[in-house]
Amino acid sequence: METKLVVGNWKMNMTNAEATANVQAFVKHVDARSDVDVVICPPYMSIGRVRELVKDTHIKVGAQDTFWENSGAYTGQVSAPMLAECDVTYCIVGHSEKRGRFGKLETDPETLCYFKETDHTVNLKLKSLLFHSINPILCVGETADERNANQTESVIEAQLRGALAGLDPAELYFFSVAYEPVWAIGTGNTCESGEANRVCGLIRRFLGEILDEDVASMIRILYGGSVKASNSRELFHQPNIDGGLVGGSSLDSEEFSKIVRSA
Ligand code: PGA
Repeated sequence: METKLVVGNWKMNMTNAEATANVQAFVKHVDARSDVDVVICPPYMSIGRVRELVKDTHIKVGAQDTFWENSGAYTGQVSAPMLAECDVTYCIVGHSEKRGRFGKLETDPETLCYFKETDHTVNLKLKSLLFHSINPILCVGETADERNANQTESVIEAQLRGALAGLDPAELYFFSVAYEPVWAIGTGNTCESGEANRVCGLIRRFLGEILDEDVASMIRILYGGSVKASNSRELFHQPNIDGGLVGGSSLDSEEFSKIVRSA
């Protein structure tokens, strides 16, 4: 892939006032050049504000999740047409924190039932996003226990097959996959760059088998999990890594701008 993609996932952080200050500073740090695709995914509440602040730049706005129905009695949910109307052009789907798989469990285990995303619901969300011309960023990755049991490949293949079931390869040119080893998310334990590169290559091979080789070669494969300015250059220059999905480090405008520049 020629152009790298760097996505900031703010998770449940930043009030509107904080988002404003952060994006104003970030826009000043980042070059006006558009040789890296940059996306900021704020909480739903700040999407409009962030959109307003980046409208004269090449920075795009993304969402952290969506729901698969367009409208209806689904309290608390936000649909793809609602996102599209707000100029949201990317959307993260199947993040491990939505699947109830946490690198560092700070939530009460009894409340994990609120995070039960499955491969099937991911699949429904992907279909809705593609129908509304929003670029999905599909997250896949293994937990520490799965890695220790040598299940990394089988877990990722099953997540990809479940998520992509019934999708038309011709619709997937603007699709991205993020390899996010769960044990690396929010823990400071970044996956070693050679290993991240190996798994991203494996993901492209699975995509070739599930979809077709041409489409698989167009899909950008990102790495996510404790990306920082000090490790992003090495990660992003691996041949199979087309950019990054950045959580904690995207909350600091200076750190995030260094990560973008390293791409
Ligand atoms: P992190 O999160 O960079 O804070 O590890 C990455 C992610 O969850 O997308």
